[in-house]
This record gives sequence, structure tokens and C-alpha cells, in this order.
Amino acid sequence: MSVADCRSVDYCLSGEPVRLPASGHSPGTAHRSPSETADAGRVHSLGVLAYKTGKGKSVNLRLIIHRILEDYALPFHGDHGVSHWARVLENGRRLTEQTGANLTVVSLFALFHDSRRINECTDHDHGRRGADFAAEQRGHEFDISDHEFKLLYRACEGHTHERTHEDITIQTCWDSDRLDLGRVGITPHPSKLCTEVAKTKEMIQWADARASFSVVPEFVLDDWGIEIPKQRIW
Ligand SMILES: [Fe+2]
Repeated sequence: MSVADCRSVDYCLSGEPVRLPASGHSPGTAHRSPSETADAGRVHSLGVLAYKTGKGKSVNLRLIIHRILEDYALPFHGDHGVSHWARVLENGRRLTEQTGANLTVVSLFALFHDSRRINECTDHDHGRRGADFAAEQRGHEFDISDHEFKLLYRACEGHTHERTHEDITIQTCWDSDRLDLGRVGITPHPSKLCTEVAKTKEMIQWADARASFSVVPEFVLDDWGIEIPKQRIW
């Protein structure tokens, strides 16, 4: 693993979360414009989502993912590892543009939901462990409101064994994960998805193509400083 010293970089930005292009990434193609990569001299990028909320709370995905990887039990390039989390993050942000879900919760879900897996197959309790790990890191690696954390915990805890939920943010979290099933040869089916936007043919095809080809978003290397081996280990 090639991991830069993320703690030497100040990504604690102020203002609104990063505005994403509607179309997301295409494999191997950079989509950043100057307005997406810089805001009044600050670093903004698709993979960082580092900002302080109006209440002074902050989220820095780069710091969080490096904390997760410090004692992640599985290969970081495995089926439930970094590239999956990155695609779930992209799926979630794309869905959020239309569902109106809480982007901070959706982004944190992408990183934490599989963070405490102990195997790549059946691991019934990994959602709750991921939720508990997020609880441990809250106040250290990130800070969000009580309401946001309640949503994050429920989303992580129930993401594998619950069909849907009344809350749109939790629905968006679960859809963002399920849309990446193509990485293990499963095409997402609308009946297993929660939000109307996730059920659309366009969304399923977009996400499934990226999952099926194990696309690694460019921000994984560029912003997170993590190099995924080109030759995947199966
Ligand atoms: Fe997942």
C-alpha cells in the first residue's frame, strides 16, 4: 500500500460540501474543473469532502479512511475494501443530488459500513461493528450532530439484513452500497433498492458498469493517497 502522510495536509476547509458534477466519473477520465478543485485557494476534490459545518463540526474523509486502514482486517484492495468504499461514495453522492439525503451521513456510511469486516463472505455482525467503530471515532476523526450520527449508526447497522427504511438518508446509503454489487457478479435489481432514482435503468447501468469493471475512482490515489494494485487478488 502506498499511503501518503495525510495528517501533514490541512484539509479542514470551511463552507459548503463539494459540488459534484451530475455525471460522476467515467473510467480513466478526469472530471475536475478548477471550480471543483479550488475554492478561494482551498483544496476541494471529489474524494475529500472536508469541511466544517455551520456549527463548527468537521468531516475529513481522507483522515477517516487512513484511520480505518490502520487496523482494517482484510486486504485493502479486496471486494469490500477501498475501491468499493470509493464507488459507494460516488454512488451515494450521485443519488443524493436527487434524493436530498444528508450528504455527510451518506459519505461517512461509504467509509464505515464495511470497515470492520473480518471476512469477505458471510459476516453477519459487520454492520454493527462498523457502526460501533464509527461511534468510537466520532469526536476524534470526525464530528457530526447527534441526529446525523443516529442516521449513520442505523445505516451501518442495518445495511445487510434490512430491506428498506422510512428515512431517505438511510435509503440512500443502502442503495449506494447495493448498486455496487456488480463487483461480485450480481446485477442490482430494482426490487432490492429503496429510492426511485436508484431503481432507474440509467442509474443501475451506470453503477453496475463501474462495479463490474472494478473501477477505482481517481480520488483514491490523488486525494486519499492509496494505490490499488492493478492486478486484483481474488
Ligand atoms: Fe458494502
